[in-house]
Amino acid sequence: MKRLLPVTIFTLVLMVIGTSIAFAGEIQSPDSDLVTGAQLYDRWYAALGIPAPHGDMPIWSRQSTNTRSGAETWRCSECHGWDYKGVEGAYASGSHQTGFPSIIRATADMTEEDIVAHLKGGNDSAHDFSKYLDEGSMGQVAVFLKEGLIDDAQYIDSISLKVIGGKLERGKDLYDSTCAECHGDDGTKIIFRTEGVDETLGDVANRDPFRFLHRTRFGVAGTEMPVGYALGWTPADGRDVLMYAQTLARGKEPEEITGAGEGSGPSELIGGATNLWTGILTGIGAFFATFGSALLFLTVLVLIGVVIVTALRRRN
Ligand code: HEC
Ligand code: HEC
Repeated sequence: MKRLLPVTIFTLVLMVIGTSIAFAGEIQSPDSDLVTGAQLYDRWYAALGIPAPHGDMPIWSRQSTNTRSGAETWRCSECHGWDYKGVEGAYASGSHQTGFPSIIRATADMTEEDIVAHLKGGNDSAHDFSKYLDEGSMGQVAVFLKEGLIDDAQYIDSISLKVIGGKLERGKDLYDSTCAECHGDDGTKIIFRTEGVDETLGDVANRDPFRFLHRTRFGVAGTEMPVGYALGWTPADGRDVLMYAQTLARGKEPEEITGAGEGSGPSELIGGATNLWTGILTGIGAFFATFGSALLFLTVLVLIGVVIVTALRRRN
């Protein structure tokens, strides 16, 4: 009996350490779940740093208006849109049209648990992502869908694609202080190659303001780009930057615009050092927490066994 006491104490100490490490990892960046969720929505395999599944997403064959194939068909954004409105928004027509539903409407009366269940194929076995996204990632997407969505109609005119309202000067200030360093004063320092078309930042802002706004608020997975949301920017700040970006240099007009709404960006790299550290801390925490619980469970089992055996011996 006596020998079990140190084991139990040791286990308890392990558990406490483990839980606090896990907790420290969590509270380090409270908004990170939402931001990661938004990047998963953008292109989950890039956010996770894994290869895209082979072939088309099973639901893809339910439509024939969008002729893309392969990796793109697996992105939440390709089916539900950068304005989160699917068939009710920018993808009601054009080359990205699929007829798939508005995620704003669909999630309005779903809980985060409902969303995770749906992502596991709960309502539609073809909409099952559980082979690729673990419980944590699905939860992050759910947090984004419940707390991160905005109605772009308040900021962007659906016909002209120009920003409604907005403060140009504020947009310029934010752009010059946060974005120009990489994208250049005129937005041409990085040229995006989108489905065979070269685009300046001004092109993206004008052709697909919805994608621009999403990526300004939440960054682009696999890049060191700052995340507006994490900087404390409101959606209106993002709108102001978009407004300014719409005035930036445009590249040569391509003969056929195929890239509108398409995402670009390197997919090989995974997040920054902060993400890595949080990840490692959470990992260590989870390990200790799990290991500790298992040990405690075993110890309790052994204790019960000893008590029973002792009791039986006494009777005899
Ligand atoms: C190939 C297209 C496609 C992709 C990719 C896709 N969805 Fe969907 N999604 C649909 C369709 C079609 C429906 C409606 C039918 C259904 O539920 O399967 C839907 C429905 C939903 C619903 C609403 C369920 C309901 O009960 O109304 C949610 C939430 C959702 N999708 C989230 C996501 C998320 C998050 C991702 C990315 C991880 C994603 N979807 C990727 C096509 C897609
Ligand atoms: C540290 C460098 C860096 C900074 C600072 C930066 N970006 Fe980026 N940005 C990138 C990189 C790298 C990419 C991806 C390039 C690619 O697609 O090949 C990117 C992509 C983008 C895209 C996506 C374009 C598309 O085709 O969808 C948008 C929009 C964007 N940046 C806007 C901004 C805004 C607005 C700011 C300021 C808030 C900003 N960026 C600050 C590096 C940066």
